[in-house]
Amino acid sequence: MAESMKGLVRTHRCGELSLANEGEIVTVMGWVQKQRNKGGIIFVDMRDRAGILQVIFEESDCGAENFEKASKLRSEFVVAVTGKVEKRSGAVNENLATGEIEVRATAVRILSESEVPPFPIEADSKTKEELRLKYRYLDLRRPDLQRNLILRSKIATTIRAFLSAEGFLEIETPILNKSTPEGARDYLVPSRVHPGCFYALPQSPQIFKQLLMCSGYDRYFQIAKCFRDEDLRADRQPEFTQVDLEMSFVDVDDVIDATERMVATVCKEAIGLDVQLPIQRMTWQEAMDRFGSDKPDTRFGMELCDVSDVVKSCGFGVFTGAIEAGGSVRGINVKGQAEMPRKKIDALVEFAKGYGVKGLAYLAVMPDGTYKSSFAKFMTEEELAALVSAMGGEAGDLLLFAADRLKIVYSVLGALRIEVACQLDMIDNDKFNFLWVTEFPQFEWSDEEERFVAMHHPFTMPMEEDLEYLVSDPGKVRAKAYDIVLNGVELGGGSVRIFQSDVQEQMFEALGFSKEQAYEQFGFLLDAFKYGVPPHAGLAIGLDRFVMLLVKADNIREVIAFPKMKDASCLMSEAPGTVDPKQLEELALAITAQEKAEEASEE
Ligand code: AMO
Ligand code: AMP
Repeated sequence: MAESMKGLVRTHRCGELSLANEGEIVTVMGWVQKQRNKGGIIFVDMRDRAGILQVIFEESDCGAENFEKASKLRSEFVVAVTGKVEKRSGAVNENLATGEIEVRATAVRILSESEVPPFPIEADSKTKEELRLKYRYLDLRRPDLQRNLILRSKIATTIRAFLSAEGFLEIETPILNKSTPEGARDYLVPSRVHPGCFYALPQSPQIFKQLLMCSGYDRYFQIAKCFRDEDLRADRQPEFTQVDLEMSFVDVDDVIDATERMVATVCKEAIGLDVQLPIQRMTWQEAMDRFGSDKPDTRFGMELCDVSDVVKSCGFGVFTGAIEAGGSVRGINVKGQAEMPRKKIDALVEFAKGYGVKGLAYLAVMPDGTYKSSFAKFMTEEELAALVSAMGGEAGDLLLFAADRLKIVYSVLGALRIEVACQLDMIDNDKFNFLWVTEFPQFEWSDEEERFVAMHHPFTMPMEEDLEYLVSDPGKVRAKAYDIVLNGVELGGGSVRIFQSDVQEQMFEALGFSKEQAYEQFGFLLDAFKYGVPPHAGLAIGLDRFVMLLVKADNIREVIAFPKMKDASCLMSEAPGTVDPKQLEELALAITAQEKAEEASEE
């Protein structure tokens, strides 16, 4: 029978007690981790969010009634125990923070009982994630998830304190919006009062924070929920949290400076990590040329090498063909791996093909100086020697080459570099390598839409020296946009914003928007800019990703209390769900995919 709290006051958390409390009478409350009945003596491990504590029951201390209750305790019962803190009588448990002490119980109250949980509540759970997510409230009792969420809370507190001290104001922006232009698909909410009209959940507070700058709140921040209906990956959720900020009367360096000091403060407070400031900066072009990625993992080398000039008139048609078609030939040098088994090389070729290249050419420089290669037969000794030398190749190295359009070559070799490094265990997991990537291209050509699209968003300011090409040669324009990267993951990004209406108009023109279309979507922002707008810039850090990287989790779900699955569903609440036909009627909605909806709800 469950007993009430009446008259009982918790004095400590279980995991907070130590030798310093020796001799004190304490009352702790928590969950039974384990109960062991050794006849005349009962050991109970009690757990709360602070940790685990050993409690000892002997009839001579606690009386027959309490001893009887202790004998009934099972895992996950919630109990209150009063007793005396003593030095451990048995061996000290080095694995527990409370390992030097135990509590000799004088009384116990069973606050609630528990059914046998569907999986054991323990660290490093071997339980399948699906089951853990279905019973997330139990999963969240596990020490590793508790540690992650406690750290996440601490990080949010640190960020608030830091930004407040720097003069940033925390201001909330609406969740029910018109669509924002971040480029992913919107989540829509139907309006009851305006039948046929929809709100969009914010993909970010972008427009509102710019409006706040127009309104004079010259430094804004928000720990903001954002929603994007996009394909999910290990570092992506449909709803996630941004540390979003915006500043007036500033340029690139001011945002970078404020952000990196914030990031360094968080790293120090959260995990004791010293981040060397200023953080290294690299232009987008350099990042692509050296690493084939706009979010390079700089914890290891194996950089890309452009050999187009060396092979442009060699005998291998795949190379020369790619160059003649305006493409490029580049490679990576996998040091010391000339003897990689053929099967493994073939698997790398298949991996590369997944990134759109037709093949991957390899050249192994064997220890005896001979070559093993997919293309050596098409080249002369001199051509091969020149190629190996351009790659910095030595006996024992494996050289891998991709020949294609430059965009594809970057993406293949960028991914291959990471894949090979993971396979060969080349990445030092104790390193935290931060990097700013700057001077992003303003536009990206979309094959699908057959037009230039904004790489960041349409309010990003071009670099002054490239302004003249905005309409005539958009592909050439670089933006005042920057990303902060940690260990190959995009942690955050931002830009200086356009604040002059003539530049904004040219931007919409380059993006293929008519004036009317632009007005229809962002008219209120364009109007606001007519009434005195300060130059402004900002950025947003993905909070979930930041916590994920700091705790070295391999999935973002490990740092979110109630995350969604890959298909954006919640296994616990079973969201999304169908709704009552009456609700649909009120919203003037009809489901055309009725069968589909029924199938989905039956699954
Ligand atoms: P951006 O779209 O680059 O910029 O987003 C900023 C950061 O948010 C995080 N993020 C995500 N995290 C988890 N799941 C997702 N689906 C997801 N999408 C993005 C990333 C990313 O770097 N308004 C601009 C910022 C600005 O210009 O000030 C913006 O939203 O860590
Ligand atoms: P092929 O002449 O198509 O048999 O290709 C000869 C070698 O070149 C094979 O090892 C292919 O994997 C490789 N190869 C083919 N296309 C490319 C490419 N675009 N880039 C690099 N290597 C390629």
